[in-house]
Amino acid sequence: EKSRIGVTGLAVMGANLARNIASRGVPVAVHNRTYAKTEQFMADYGAEGDFTASESVKDFVDSLETPRKIIVMVKAGKPVDGVIEELTPLLDEGDIIIDAGNSHFPDTVRRTAECEANGLRFMGVGVSGGEEGALLGPSIMPGGDPAAYEEVREIFESIAAVVDGTPCVTHVGPGGAGHYVKMVHNGIEYADIQLIAEAYDLLTNVVGLDAPAVGKIFEEWNTGDLDSFLIEITGKVLAKTDARTGRPLVDVIVDQAGQKGTGTWTAIDALQLGIPLTGITEAVFARGLSALRSERKAAAGVLAGPTPSKEVDESLVEDIRLALYASKVVAYAQGFAQMRAASVENGWDLKLGEMATIWRGGCIIRARFLNRIREAYDEHPDLDNLLMVPYFTEAVANAQDAWRRVIVKATEQGVPIPAFSSSLSYYDGYRRERGPANLIQGLRDFFGAHTYKRIDAEGSFHTRWAQDGTEVEA
Ligand code: 6PG
Repeated sequence: EKSRIGVTGLAVMGANLARNIASRGVPVAVHNRTYAKTEQFMADYGAEGDFTASESVKDFVDSLETPRKIIVMVKAGKPVDGVIEELTPLLDEGDIIIDAGNSHFPDTVRRTAECEANGLRFMGVGVSGGEEGALLGPSIMPGGDPAAYEEVREIFESIAAVVDGTPCVTHVGPGGAGHYVKMVHNGIEYADIQLIAEAYDLLTNVVGLDAPAVGKIFEEWNTGDLDSFLIEITGKVLAKTDARTGRPLVDVIVDQAGQKGTGTWTAIDALQLGIPLTGITEAVFARGLSALRSERKAAAGVLAGPTPSKEVDESLVEDIRLALYASKVVAYAQGFAQMRAASVENGWDLKLGEMATIWRGGCIIRARFLNRIREAYDEHPDLDNLLMVPYFTEAVANAQDAWRRVIVKATEQGVPIPAFSSSLSYYDGYRRERGPANLIQGLRDFFGAHTYKRIDAEGSFHTRWAQDGTEVEA
């Protein structure tokens, strides 16, 4: 009997996805470039379900029913192209290659075209939820040919996380749409994590609390508006005692953040679309600054500035919570505005309410407040900005005094809060009917005759700055 679906790439994410699928009673073919890994997989999990293991790619392909459905779960970049190249001559017209890794969406667009030229169907599928999600129920963001999606829909719906009876999976859009949405998911993950880190910094260095005490605060925050996976695990990470030293584990972890590129892609894409994406972009920059550890060490003794007082000041705690919440709303408003712009640009017809729906469970940014985002887009599918629906307008209105106090305090004390403060600047910029870009236009016209528009007349104008100073219509 042939397997209904195959998984190639049996590192932890691939292995766990294969196990998740098999646990729903679906026969799964498994393959890995190094056969020893496949053997290890079979030894560890072979008894869990109906697995067929193959050593060669050919046997793997032959063990699948047609049209074949093959999930590729290998490192993003060249390895994906390598697997596609190997599979292509062995496959038949209409077979489906499913890239479930964190591929960059332009690669997905290219691979889709290449596969189509070879008579194959290609799907770029975002999968979020880490190891545990892959095994027990991820959030899945499938992109590509809708007819190909119909072939795997039942399996995907059966393995995805479920919230209120709805599986966290939906066909996102054609071509690169699935990987695009996963990219923005990761960007928002960066912003969420940065905001949490800034709150932790303030609670530690301004309020003067130790890690377990800060952990308790996050635990409490997780019972309110901020209820989310990342807030929940922040409480757990801060509560952890290091076995070697007896100190809080976070206090012995080096303060340099790693990154694998998805946050940077999100920021670059926003710059190219011309969409302000301050929260996510500042989060990427903050990781970059954190990585300059030896430079920071040298600068610490040289550059002047206040040292945080660490005076216990509990009244700030609620202000910090509100600042975190308001900044989070801004980060999501920006990320959703980016997806909307990309959808228009690429003709993807993304349903933003559905994106919020499939992020409610399984993924890293799962959070209670995604229900509110979903409601916002259900009511107003063409919403320009999430800040404009009453729920979020009011949430930020209620938070903004506290948000400003936190930013003033942090600035006075010399604690960097790039995501908190850039989010507030975005908010203040967005709610302003007239900003200072009139001067920018004046300057551009002065040095480069780039022209400007007038508030009181149609058309474009240029002032002959270097000549007689008169204005001409451009
Ligand atoms: C997920 C995560 C996952 C991974 C990130 C981490 O949704 O399950 O986003 O994709 O944890 O790629 O990214 P960095 O290593 O860049 O922080």
